[in-house]
Order: sequence, then structure tokens, then C-alpha cells
Amino acid sequence: MKNVDITTSINGLKLKSCIMNASGALCSTKDELYNLLYSSSGAIVTKSCTKNIRIGNSLPRYYEFDIGSINSMGLPNFGIDFYLNFSTNKEIKKNKPIFLSISGLSLKENFFLIKKANLYSNISALELNLSCPNIIGKEEDELIYNYESLYKFLEKTFKYNKKPLGIKLPPFFRKKDIKNISLILNKFPISFITCINSIPNGICVDSYKESTVIQPNNGLGGIGGTIIKPFALSNIWQFNTFLRKDISIIGCGGIISGKDIFDHILCGASAVQIGTQLIKEGVSVFNRLHKELISFLKKKNYLSIDNFKGKLKTIYN
Ligand code: SIN
Repeated sequence: MKNVDITTSINGLKLKSCIMNASGALCSTKDELYNLLYSSSGAIVTKSCTKNIRIGNSLPRYYEFDIGSINSMGLPNFGIDFYLNFSTNKEIKKNKPIFLSISGLSLKENFFLIKKANLYSNISALELNLSCPNIIGKEEDELIYNYESLYKFLEKTFKYNKKPLGIKLPPFFRKKDIKNISLILNKFPISFITCINSIPNGICVDSYKESTVIQPNNGLGGIGGTIIKPFALSNIWQFNTFLRKDISIIGCGGIISGKDIFDHILCGASAVQIGTQLIKEGVSVFNRLHKELISFLKKKNYLSIDNFKGKLKTIYN
């Protein structure tokens, strides 16, 4: 049998592998970024950055359980200049694309970050994080749910931005939101969306201590990991039906195996991001997932991801 090809393209941006890290997962410090650079991931996504350094929320702010994780990190990051400096490393250009994740604390800050990132040629794409659930009072919290504000924000964004730009979305639970947001996104030169960020407003309980497991926000946080996979798949699949065909979808949520990646692509993703499982397993997760995905595709006689991307059948079709 011929080799299985797991390369992909995000709106024309070529990746040697369709598997990358999710923003937030082992991508904040210099060591973590270099580990990603020399791993077999298809791209590096940086921790969502702000204008200034942030220490983030108080500890404990991340907790893993058998089928998922909860976090309320509060955007700890070294500030945009740190990630832009990392991007100037000569190794990056010949190695893999870098997606700078941006999450300004205000709309004004986002415009500042976008403008600044546009000055750096090694930044291949911007992932605008409009879905961080953990900063109370952050302006963007409401942006994605307010169609008029979202339209105005994107209109202004594309005055500043000339780079491939995608948006990391929260999970949506109503079909009409997915349709309406798609119709807005379709009006702009958006390269990709990432579905989904963690499911906000979860709580995990330590039954023995009879308490919450993370400290910030009274224990409320974003839920990730296996438990959220059905919501990730549903968002990918529905956005895939409504979005312009040139807007790529990056799937994120609940991937622990090659078969999970297959499911994301079957629903319409062109690439996937690994969050909770990367934190659990470290960067060797990419090699394991590559092997598992290739072996699953061989069993199905698929030679590339285009053979099955977005081809999920519904029972009555
Ligand atoms: C955080 O730093 O609070 C998490 C970021 C995110 O979920 O977007």
C-alpha cells in the first residue's frame, strides 16, 4: 500500500502534519516552545498573549480527572514581545509554521496586538482567542455573542491585519448561533476557526474534601478533555455546513487517540489541536497520535485526509 499522507493545508498554509498543540498546552515558556519546535507537531501555537506579562489566577488553577480537566488559568503569559522574539529564531522558518495566539484584555488591546504581530514575518498566522472563559469582566466575553459588535470588531480587525487570521471560538449549544456567527464570519477574509475552547463555567468536586478543586472564581473553570469531544465534533460539523468553503476548521476537544483525530476530520476539520492530553503525556503524544492515525487510515484504505474530510454520514442519508 502507498504511504498515508497526513499533511494538510489551513486555507493555503501548508502543514507537514495535521496535528498541533492547543494554545495553553505546554506552549508558554521558552523550553516548552522549543520542545514543540523539535517535536513532530505540524505547527506551534503559542499561549494566548496579552500586551503585558500576566501571572494569571491564583493556584491551584488546573486539575485533571479521569475523563477531562478543569482550568482557570487567567491567561498567564510572558507578554506579546516574548512570543514575537521566539518567532525570530531562524530554526522556525525551515521547521514549521507558528500560530501566534492573541487574547487582548480589551478590543483596543487586541488591535494593538494584531498590528504588532503583523510586523513579524515568521508569524505564519494569528489565532485570535475570543473565548477565554476565565477572566471576569473581559470585554471579549460578550463580543462573540453580540452579532453587531462582532461584525464591527471584525471590520476593524481586517483594516489592521494582513496575515492569515483565525478565531478560536467557544462551544455553541444552539444551532441558530452557529448559523448566525458563520454568516458574519463569511463576510470577512478569515482563514480558519478553531472549535472549541474549553466548555466554560464547569465545576469539579473533591468528594473527600467536600470542596472545589481549583481556587479561582469559586472553583468554576473551563472543562477540556475526552468529556467534551461530542461538543467539539458537533461544532465542527455544524460550522462546516455553514462556513464558506475556503475557511478551514481546526478541531480541538477530547482527542486522546488517532481515531479521535479521524472523527474530527470526518466532521470537517482540516487539522486538530491537542490540549489536555498533551499536558498529560508531553510532546511524545504527537508521535503516538501520528502512528495511530496512520494505522487507522490504512485499515480504512484512506491515503490522505481529503479522502474523508467532512464526509460524516447521517443515519437517514
Ligand atoms: C486561560 O489562560 O485562562 C485559558 C485560556 C483559554 O481558555 O482561552
